[in-house]
Amino acid sequence: MRILGRGRIKTVLVTGGAGYIGSHICVELLDAGLEVLVIDNLSNSSQEALNRVEKITGKTVLFYQINLQDKARVKTVFETHTIDAVIHLAGLKSVGDSCRLPLEYYQNNISSTLVLLEMLEQFSVRNIVFSSSATVYGDPATVPVTEQFPLRATNPYGRTKLMIEEILRDVANASHIKVVLLRYFNPIGAHESGLIGEAPNGTPNNLLPYISQVAMGQRDKVLIFGGDYPTIDGTGVRDYIHVVDLAKGHTKALQEIVGNGSKGESCQVYNLGTGHGHSVIEVIKAFEQACGHKIIYEIVDRRSGDVAECYANPALANEKLNWRAEKELSEMVMDAWHWQTQNPKGYKID
Ligand SMILES: NC(=O)c1ccc[n+]([C@@H]2O[C@H](COP(=O)([O-])OP(=O)(O)OC[C@H]3O[C@@H](n4cnc5c(N)ncnc54)[C@H](O)[C@@H]3O)[C@@H](O)[C@H]2O)c1
Repeated sequence: MRILGRGRIKTVLVTGGAGYIGSHICVELLDAGLEVLVIDNLSNSSQEALNRVEKITGKTVLFYQINLQDKARVKTVFETHTIDAVIHLAGLKSVGDSCRLPLEYYQNNISSTLVLLEMLEQFSVRNIVFSSSATVYGDPATVPVTEQFPLRATNPYGRTKLMIEEILRDVANASHIKVVLLRYFNPIGAHESGLIGEAPNGTPNNLLPYISQVAMGQRDKVLIFGGDYPTIDGTGVRDYIHVVDLAKGHTKALQEIVGNGSKGESCQVYNLGTGHGHSVIEVIKAFEQACGHKIIYEIVDRRSGDVAECYANPALANEKLNWRAEKELSEMVMDAWHWQTQNPKGYKID
């Protein structure tokens, strides 16, 4: 792999690496031969995810249970290791909670990022990849969405993403730090081993864990918010992307950031999506195929802030990162179902 061949990146710090997306990224990085450090406070995850990452890859993850806002403890990690690049995922991510607890969201997501960036400057770490989101496009006027679309977040969670993007742009302009902003569309699915996947605490905020729990008989029915959108069947359309495809986008982003050397732009932005939308009902039907039985659902009122249709134009990432989402919806729901049946209580063992 180029990042190794050129010897430019050996050790990657993954913040939030015990989480859903982070654990899949750790697998890809370890499989690429990189050393992986994780900082996570386990506020929305379990260390068991990292044990499973080690099981899948046969390699070791160096784990630090630290709140990223705790500058003194974060500093010890940078003092102990030579870090070549950071993938920054740590953050709170529930839109609903962010509307109830905006200060907690701004505090956690923004101050963590500021601490991290101070460390990058202090220890001359030159490369950072940030987990942004399609939520920064708000309610796009048309689809598919390109990176040039106007940015407008509609809730505090989305605003933390927008603010962090702006902070990173400023830092990239003023320093030698190179930034890649990856705007994720809707990651779903799980690792094909069934060992790591999405394990939400309490009621799931995302569609797939909800459907999975209904399919398992842990919940009665899926509530579909809005059946009168101007879409193929009236339900909302999103760009669902397999979490493993998304994770692979990160190793490609690291390759791009180091391969480009001094020629590269200091801040690059890419959509990571498939370029296709699926409605909620299409996802439920695909899931029924995977699990072999009917999923009960009920259409209820629209939720404020939801948009009818949002899917990516991923052409820039296809071209510049040489990355493409490969897995179809059928594989995404099959892997989600496999994970759910193997781990009915997520990572909890009791
Ligand atoms: N899952 C999605 O649908 C989605 C879509 C777009 C963007 N994102 C972004 O991707 C990132 C990862 O999302 P995920 O779905 O894996 O979420 P997740 O909650 O599973 O992972 C986030 C991790 O960050 C950790 N964390 C939070 N605050 C921390 C802090 N102050 N210090 C240390 N660790 C902290 C949590 O414990 C968790 O393990 C997030 O930044 C999220 O906003 C997710």
